[in-house]
Amino acid sequence: MVIQCPFKEMRSYLTEIEQRFGLQQWAEQQEGFALHYDDQGLSLRKIDEPKLGAITVDFVTGAAAHRRKFGGGKGQSIAKAVGLNKGATPVVLDATAGLGRDGFVLASLGCKVILHERHPVVAALLYDGLQRAYDDIEIGPWMRENMSLVFGSSHTLLSQCVSTPDVVYLDPMFPHREKSALVKKEMRVFQELVGADTDADDLLDFAYPLASKRVVVKRPDYAPFLNDKTPSMQIKTKKNRFDVYVKAAMI
Ligand SMILES: C[S@@+](CC[C@H](N)C(=O)[O-])C[C@H]1O[C@@H](n2cnc3c(N)ncnc32)[C@H](O)[C@@H]1O
Repeated sequence: MVIQCPFKEMRSYLTEIEQRFGLQQWAEQQEGFALHYDDQGLSLRKIDEPKLGAITVDFVTGAAAHRRKFGGGKGQSIAKAVGLNKGATPVVLDATAGLGRDGFVLASLGCKVILHERHPVVAALLYDGLQRAYDDIEIGPWMRENMSLVFGSSHTLLSQCVSTPDVVYLDPMFPHREKSALVKKEMRVFQELVGADTDADDLLDFAYPLASKRVVVKRPDYAPFLNDKTPSMQIKTKKNRFDVYVKAAMI
């Protein structure tokens, strides 16, 4: 049993998650993290730094819900980057899904978003967050339509993809520059779990032929272009930028 849980009735659901994402194998190779399930859902903690708090995926309440309601809609930089402000609602393949936050913004604006995530624990957290969102009365109907998860590496999944997304979205982990005390506590747990995605450069070569309209790469403002490839345009925010590699106009 990898996921600790006080509720016996949740055991079969949690066993399914453990098997689906290979959490037993993951647990045998690490000692620093603990997975727990309670009425807030599945969460991950660092055992030796409990003050950092837990990571959980919650699309229904909290920050995600606030951003959905008050976050600026199609005027947000990420929406412009994928081409949403042109009146289109593109199909987006989020090839580095993480905790699904960017994917959720796009799905809540009407995009169909396919999420790829390769880290077993991140994928399990995301899966659990999606199940709770699918069951929610308010967002469940469009979440079931618009957001789906595929567990695996985009390095193989993108080359095997049979459908053609309008947009491939990439946001690989880039080493953080800020002093660790300034990085949000939750982000520190995530960074220590996942590490840097040092093989991310290759993703652009898989993504570009697949996308029919564009590839969007999210980068910290100090990071070089992915694979040193100059984008067609850039959309800058306070700390990040979206490098957009345009193939065809949005209709
Ligand atoms: C910075 S996080 C993405 C955050 C995400 N945009 C969000 O809003 O929550 C990067 C994630 O991409 C995943 N990742 C990196 N390379 C991948 C690949 N080749 N295939 C699938 N997932 C990948 C990492 O495991 C990590 O969870």
